[in-house]
Amino acid sequence: MAAMTATGRPLLNRRLAEFGTTVFAEMSALAVATGAINLGQGFPDTDGPEEVREAAVRALRDGRGNQYPPGPGIPELRAAVAEHQRRFHGLSYDPDTEVLVTAGATEAIAAALLALVEPGDEVIALEPYYDSYAACVAMAGGTRVPVTLRPGPAGGDGGGDGGGDGGPRYRLDLDELRDAVTPRTRLLLLNTPHNPTGTVLTRAELTAVAELAVERDLLVVTDEVYEHLVYEGEHLPIAALPGMRERTVTISSAGKTFSFTGWKVGWVTAAPELVAAVRSAKQYLTYVSAGPFQYAVAEALALPDAYYRGLREDLRAKRDLLVAGLRAAGLTVHRPAGTYFVTTDIRPLGESDGMAFCRSLPERCGVVAVPNVVFYDHAAEGAHFVRFAFCKREAVLEEAVRRLNDGLRGGAA
Ligand SMILES: Cc1ncc(COP(=O)(O)O)c(C=O)c1O
Repeated sequence: MAAMTATGRPLLNRRLAEFGTTVFAEMSALAVATGAINLGQGFPDTDGPEEVREAAVRALRDGRGNQYPPGPGIPELRAAVAEHQRRFHGLSYDPDTEVLVTAGATEAIAAALLALVEPGDEVIALEPYYDSYAACVAMAGGTRVPVTLRPGPAGGDGGGDGGGDGGPRYRLDLDELRDAVTPRTRLLLLNTPHNPTGTVLTRAELTAVAELAVERDLLVVTDEVYEHLVYEGEHLPIAALPGMRERTVTISSAGKTFSFTGWKVGWVTAAPELVAAVRSAKQYLTYVSAGPFQYAVAEALALPDAYYRGLREDLRAKRDLLVAGLRAAGLTVHRPAGTYFVTTDIRPLGESDGMAFCRSLPERCGVVAVPNVVFYDHAAEGAHFVRFAFCKREAVLEEAVRRLNDGLRGGAA
């Protein structure tokens, strides 16, 4: 029951009442209690490059960033972010007016929504959505309007995942998106590559979204934290499409790209007026954060192409290992074209309640996963999907696969 004051008023305000403890906390606690392998939460079990860690140590020792860094972020990191957008995406941003450093992508999302959404505004988000989106829309007083991504027909074109044996790819229903726009719609909240489905929105999908945004004069906030984790197809920043640069807030962070999720260094790139708006909210959230780590991430962004390729190839191999293992265990697998998550469908096992499945999985198999239903408003759409993370050491994934095969198929595989 919700905590109350003596007069019976709930302690948690009504905007946040529906956001209790996250399923990640519950599942991670289960993992600890049962000694299960945790493929629930998405963090790597090995740290990022040694030279980047050393860069952080050097900054700490040299006294760089130990006191409040500048509000927009240190100039070295803003320049590195601008150079990264040019190098990988051909986008040009002014480091002084068009880049803002944040406490991870999480703060960037919160600040963007708090800055741009008025109470009563509608925010369209792709469902299933990353859990902070709903809470941030609520904190901003907005109304979330989910548009559901669904797996395409089996055996249909694989779209961004290359087709063939990739399994049905999750797609955006453009008619549904168009129908979701009302006169109250303020912005579209995108995420590509997409957590938890692993889909990478195609050029055709993004072009249609961009045309809609221009036609209906909508802002776009796009979460691209998995921009470098793409195994099939390409990551296309929507800001690169015609008419989008001036209406798009692009968000990314160092957590996934450099395997330092604990550092919480993120950034926003956008036109000066949008950056100024986001900064207005951000300055009263954290003001600044992660001083010495900002120096290290500036160096990380300049790593050679071989680093980025190596990260991708390493994760592609892990993806393939887990996908094959999950298939062998009897699940339908939606092979991800990006991110480090695999969404599976448990119905071939004769089960349909992903929440119950995930609650029983640690006991049954010694593995923890996350029920996708927590990422949906339309619970029925997501009830039978379960997400596994593959950003873990190969030996850990192999052991997880062995346990799942033993537990789900009685050792048949
Ligand atoms: C889609 C998405 N956005 C944002 C984040 C959080 O990024 P950060 O750790 O930089 O705050 C995550 C982390 O899992 C994510 O999956």
